[in-house]
Amino acid sequence: MGENRIPADAVNPDLVPKHTLYTGAKMPTLGLGTFGSDSVPAEKVAAAVEDAVLSGYRMIDCAACYGNEDLIGESLEKVFAAGIKREELFIISKVWNDMHGRGDVLRACAQTLKDLRLDYLDLYFVHWPFPNYHPPGCDVDTRNPDSRPYIHEEFMACWRQMERLVDMGLVKHIGVSNVTIPKLKLILRDCRIKPAVNEMELHPAFQQPELYNFCKENGIEIIGFCPIGSPARPERDKTPEDVVDTQLPQVQQVAKAHGIHPATVCLKWAVQRGHMPIPFSTTRKNYMSNLRCTFEDPLTDEEMALLATADQNCRLIKGQVFLWEGAGDWQDLWDIDGTIPGWNGYEKK
Ligand SMILES: NC(=O)c1ccc[n+]([C@@H]2O[C@H](COP(=O)([O-])OP(=O)(O)OC[C@H]3O[C@@H](n4cnc5c(N)ncnc54)[C@H](OP(=O)(O)O)[C@@H]3O)[C@@H](O)[C@H]2O)c1
Repeated sequence: MGENRIPADAVNPDLVPKHTLYTGAKMPTLGLGTFGSDSVPAEKVAAAVEDAVLSGYRMIDCAACYGNEDLIGESLEKVFAAGIKREELFIISKVWNDMHGRGDVLRACAQTLKDLRLDYLDLYFVHWPFPNYHPPGCDVDTRNPDSRPYIHEEFMACWRQMERLVDMGLVKHIGVSNVTIPKLKLILRDCRIKPAVNEMELHPAFQQPELYNFCKENGIEIIGFCPIGSPARPERDKTPEDVVDTQLPQVQQVAKAHGIHPATVCLKWAVQRGHMPIPFSTTRKNYMSNLRCTFEDPLTDEEMALLATADQNCRLIKGQVFLWEGAGDWQDLWDIDGTIPGWNGYEKK
């Protein structure tokens, strides 16, 4: 027997509420984000993953483009050696925009599995619905001349490969991220295997009620990214109009009433609203408190109603670098008026 590596203050994972996917599989209501925002080194993120899993985390949100899956794979190997079982974990990854082409999705998934040192993923996302690549760390005005608007047929060719990964047993569920209702309607119309989860930006200042309800009505569970308003996001993702969630008066009022950090209010709001936040943290005190807050000291109905009024439709991850030549501003990525710019085949079967 090796030494017991479970910390004394570890959370019992059974206490963390679960969501049930349409397949019957269960997911914990809170996971650990792993995007170091181009500033937290991969080693630090991987160390947090190792300690977080030993301390009770069971869901980890990874992605090839975060550039740290190989080190996170070493962490997973260590937690398995410490006695955590693969089936206890819910591991997520995402195919990056430059790997949508024929055969590429399978290759990308194989690389991720190799890096993470796993036989299968619990959930695999198409990270963005565009095959538009930008180099890591590029500035906000970078445009790739090969970038194109959403082309549904191309997306479905990528999705067919995602479905194939499920058939092959390499991936248990597939999902979408950064989609809109018009895009999701088309995907639902044409898919063979339905997306199980939509990973979308959600925090008190950006509640996206229409897309949220559309997912719930269609049996798609929801992961909320940037749940604390991503205070350390890259400079390219900041604009002067952006709202700081932890400074919203509604969030501060609830934090004061409970004697907790405003970040914790954002997470409690997410869990009680009914989605699954994936806060990033490499600070032990913070990631332990984030996990515990899912089952301790709930907010009241009145506080939830107050937080609903904090919505300012403030999108933080606008996606400018994915725009194509000839596009207008970043709103063209988000089908603001209910149509998909640059693609007119909505009625085509
Ligand atoms: N699908 C997509 O396109 C997409 C896009 C963006 C993000 N994501 C995913 O979503 C995850 C989360 O988003 P994010 O990393 O941008 O932002 P976030 O989770 O909203 O914010 C993370 C920041 O909050 C701090 N923090 C965490 N817990 C705290 C607490 N209890 N008290 C005070 N501060 C706290 C962290 O600092 P410390 O480290 O010091 O705790 C970190 O700086 C990402 O890591 C990634 O996995 C997905």
